[in-house]
Amino acid sequence: MNTQSARGQFEAYLLVKAELYFKEKNALNEAILYSLLGQGKRVRPLLAMGFSQGFQGNLDIAQVCAMTIEMIHTYSLIHDDLPAMDNDDFRRGQATNHKVYGEALAILAGDSLLTFAPEFLLKELNSLNFAPEKTLHLLNELFMASGHNGMVKGQAQDMKFESEDHSVFDQQHLQLTLENIHKLKTGSIISWSCLAGLLSHPDENFIKTHRQGVINIGNKIGLLFQMVDDILDVTAELKEIGKTPGKDLKAGKLTYTHLFGLEGSVSRAKEIIKTLRVDIKNLGHHGNWQIVDEIISLLEGQLPG
Ligand code: IPE
Ligand code: IPE
Ligand code: MG
Ligand code: MG
Ligand code: MG
Repeated sequence: MNTQSARGQFEAYLLVKAELYFKEKNALNEAILYSLLGQGKRVRPLLAMGFSQGFQGNLDIAQVCAMTIEMIHTYSLIHDDLPAMDNDDFRRGQATNHKVYGEALAILAGDSLLTFAPEFLLKELNSLNFAPEKTLHLLNELFMASGHNGMVKGQAQDMKFESEDHSVFDQQHLQLTLENIHKLKTGSIISWSCLAGLLSHPDENFIKTHRQGVINIGNKIGLLFQMVDDILDVTAELKEIGKTPGKDLKAGKLTYTHLFGLEGSVSRAKEIIKTLRVDIKNLGHHGNWQIVDEIISLLEGQLPG
């Protein structure tokens, strides 16, 4: 399966499940569906499916994980856009959730997606007869990646740095801080997506053998993804990225381009892509790595020059 067909398959699955679980007509469901069914790139779902396909895991399990992480990601975007955080007006090519539904409902739509995601994972994996101890493993990793010691921690640090004077720190300190923020706010749930693909494999020993390698690659893809996002904030237009560019500089965010300039950031991103391609080759010759390869190429294609 290539990225296009995986994406088509995921969108169809998402529609069916959204119809099932958010069908009651009310304002909360309307606000949830507005963002969840918006034009996201679905990178995290595609990584879960891509790693599952690469390791010849169970694609039905991977698809459940794919929707779970897309719900967590969508909640994080709705909250990230709120006036108290990045205060953005456009997301996924349309007005942000709070612009349409108001702040209260946007907060609650995010809360619902965050709490429903693990409920969905439990229900759906149970109905696929996935072993309960493996479900617990996935959930434990999901909470660690998305919560207090993962994405939320990264978002808190991102906000803290926005209001601080960066010039008092030396370049090395800033680089370490920035990479830690990127790893937490973006890398952790991207890494979970990759790991979920591996955990869809039935053999525990196989999982143990590949676990650390997948986490390392997931973290690297996550860092690269946020580097490209920082670069696009400088180089892209609203219609390409579906959100307002130029916001990071205005907000005084600590970003890759702020620290290394545009050229420096692009050449660092290209270096990471080179090593990632080797890492993925080294994962071995189990299944088909086309989706993961195509996601890396897609990120590469977004770099200027
Ligand atoms: C945006 O994520 C937030 C970041 C972590 C950079 P995406 O660029 O994946 O957003 P969508 O899902 O395509 O809207
Ligand atoms: C967001 O990072 C990371 C999240 C956890 C949502 P950004 O604030 O850079 O994402 P965009 O640029 O608004 O999509
Ligand atoms: Mg942000
Ligand atoms: Mg933002
Ligand atoms: Mg950004």
